[in-house]
Amino acid sequence: MATIGKVSPEEMQQFYENSRQAGLTPAWMGRGHDRKPSVEPFVWRWAQAEPLILRSGEVVTPDRDVERRVLRLTNPAREHGTTHTISAALQLLLPGETAPAHRHTPTAIRWVLHGEGAYTTVEGDKCYMERGDLILTPSWTWHDHNNEGDGPMIWLDGLDTPLVHNLEATFYEAFPEDQQPVTSSGQSEKKYASGALRPAWEDYKSPYSPLWHYKWERTYDALWRLAQTDCSPFDDVAMEFSDPASGGPVLRTMSCWIQLIRPGVRTRAHRHTSSAVFHVFQGEGYTVIDGQRFDWSTGDFFVVPTWAWHEFANESSEETILFSIQDIPVMKSLSLYRDEAYEENSGHQPITSRFDG
Ligand SMILES: [Fe+2]
Ligand SMILES: [Fe+2]
Repeated sequence: MATIGKVSPEEMQQFYENSRQAGLTPAWMGRGHDRKPSVEPFVWRWAQAEPLILRSGEVVTPDRDVERRVLRLTNPAREHGTTHTISAALQLLLPGETAPAHRHTPTAIRWVLHGEGAYTTVEGDKCYMERGDLILTPSWTWHDHNNEGDGPMIWLDGLDTPLVHNLEATFYEAFPEDQQPVTSSGQSEKKYASGALRPAWEDYKSPYSPLWHYKWERTYDALWRLAQTDCSPFDDVAMEFSDPASGGPVLRTMSCWIQLIRPGVRTRAHRHTSSAVFHVFQGEGYTVIDGQRFDWSTGDFFVVPTWAWHEFANESSEETILFSIQDIPVMKSLSLYRDEAYEENSGHQPITSRFDG
């Protein structure tokens, strides 16, 4: 085993200086220092976010300069990103507006929060957006958003931009026109949304799900059915949106979940090497993250960092529904996913503080 200080302090200092000038860093320096967490647990309040996203409609217009009218949920521990892999944001599109067509290597999902009459065109397929719909715009697919309705449309964007930027693989291309030609309407949903049944003649080979529009009524129906039969001790009634061709996650870098926390349920705590951004679609409750209690209600957003103990509670008499974006596929594909159950105190953390943001 190497011992530091086999030579005089002056010779040691000279060694460090020579190393620095050669662009070399002795690996024994700085060992044992705690790394500052790059993601903090946090709650963004809908009561604060809603007036600001609506106000953004009065201060900017999506065009070739602004492109998207977006307010990002930036983690307080970071300059960019809601977690170290996921960037979530609110987007507003007013009646008659178009968010111009483009494509990029970062992958995106849209989770529709409010409004009707708008659509996203993905690779020529027109997908009408309604509350609770999930729409995918996988890596390098053309997409534009258009509001044909008579009210504001608000949705949550989820992108893997922090990850793709760190991998230095970000590419972008604008479509020559604001809108790409529409070649079909709801085709992806009609062909691939029938659960276990899919077109018999197709041998679908693609890096992403051929289904890119998950309608809310199908989602809630599946959730309700599962609630009659089974649940997870850590997540209660939780379902992952899946790629009907592979059965796996909808995207290579992000998975999406819908989760029902039944009235009176408090889940057991666990932790894992994946991070997640949650939207409280309906109801109220709280999450205990590393001993801190984070209360939330309909419309709020919260983040659970990597390797943080967490558990969910619904003390109300109504259903609570959470949507989430998680980076599990990245960790699993790199064989870096691990999880651990909290064993003490019947699986519940002692609550030592309460988030008051
Ligand atoms: Fe985009
Ligand atoms: Fe979890």
